Amino acid sequence: MDKLRVAVIGTGFVGRVHVENIRRQNDAEVVAIADQTAELAATFGRTLGIPRTAGDYRELLDDSSIDAVHICTPNKTHFPIARDALDAGKNVICEKPLAMSAAEAARLVELANARDVVHATSYNLRFYPNVAQMRRMVATGAIGDVLAVDGSYSQDWLFYDTDYNWRLEPEVGGPSRAMADIGSHWCDLLEHVTGSRIRAVCAELATFHPIRKKPKKPIETYAGKMLAPEDYEDRPITTEDFGAILLRFDGRARGALTVNQVAAGRKNRLLMEIYGSRCGLTWDGERPNELWIGRRDGNNELLVKDPSLMEREASTFADLPGGHAEGYADTFKQFFRRFYAACRDRSLAAGLPGFEAGLRQLRVVEAVLESHAKSAWVDID
Ligand SMILES: NC(=O)c1ccc[n+]([C@@H]2O[C@H](COP(=O)([O-])OP(=O)(O)OC[C@H]3O[C@@H](n4cnc5c(N)ncnc54)[C@H](O)[C@@H]3O)[C@@H](O)[C@H]2O)c1
Repeated sequence: MDKLRVAVIGTGFVGRVHVENIRRQNDAEVVAIADQTAELAATFGRTLGIPRTAGDYRELLDDSSIDAVHICTPNKTHFPIARDALDAGKNVICEKPLAMSAAEAARLVELANARDVVHATSYNLRFYPNVAQMRRMVATGAIGDVLAVDGSYSQDWLFYDTDYNWRLEPEVGGPSRAMADIGSHWCDLLEHVTGSRIRAVCAELATFHPIRKKPKKPIETYAGKMLAPEDYEDRPITTEDFGAILLRFDGRARGALTVNQVAAGRKNRLLMEIYGSRCGLTWDGERPNELWIGRRDGNNELLVKDPSLMEREASTFADLPGGHAEGYADTFKQFFRRFYAACRDRSLAAGLPGFEAGLRQLRVVEAVLESHAKSAWVDID
């Protein structure tokens, strides 16, 4: 079998995760990378041993031997790069959020559906074994009717007013930050697991640091502590550090979510609780190998990921036996395996979070922004 030839565009934090997990596939290979300058791309290429590098992604799209591209760049570039990649006939994985607005995302869905290509939004968290297990437990009726859901997505990497990143600038990251960056992962996961759709939201957002200190010179991630006060300039911040969102579902389920990027001590904690008419489920993304199952009239259980104890369909998301932890990087391995399988057999694309999933979450994000602005419930769709 010929290997699929893959290019990765954007070589920052998540670009590296993509390259490493494409390399764990037996039917695909990373043949080229691009960044915004030839120097950045070449440095990354030398570090990871990728000989072909480009300072302009369009050079790679012009190469008809490249089958698929992964877009791992800041949010504002997703739309033009995905559009160009679709126009070049490539299969595309695009990082989330799919675009800067639902209107842009809708255009990408239209373009993608007009082409004979496979497309996916990088909702990689769907590919944790215990997430697949929760989804099966809802689908088989094991948890009964979903009644109430709650949870949070909390991080502390933007805790100080000296913490800075492109995500804080709406012209690069988009008009929403905490909700679009991490809340959209939570909402996608919840809809994926429960099969229910969020019908309306009522949101309160907060920006605890209305002014942040932007470094005057580029710094490497986490190097901010080395700077002196004169190395910064003030920058007004309009995107949210925090959000509290009430959720109404299309069935009788109701729920609540908080998103927080200034939560001291929480590094990257996605917490999801689903309470059904038979039992409850709790999953914490920082302890992904454990799934709590709660019962009113019997013992509670802690299911430790073990393919031999899981629902058969969910067990295919685990490659290792019980007691051998699988984590964040493994979700990309599982995701890409299914994506490349779909590139060879289009009928498998239905199991992926297509661009429609990216559009869906931008609609939720826009409803959250509108709800906050109006202090009112806002319907989605
Ligand atoms: N699915 C996940 O778990 C996950 C995790 C982190 C980030 N992300 C998403 O991935 C994207 C990138 O985030 P990151 O944290 O890796 O950012 P980053 O800042 O670490 O890396 C972005 C890279 O893109 C490059 N770049 C910028 N403009 C470019 C252009 N026009 N052409 C080519 N390269 C360009 C930058 O130079 C940099 O190397 C974001 O959309 C983010 O939301 C997803």
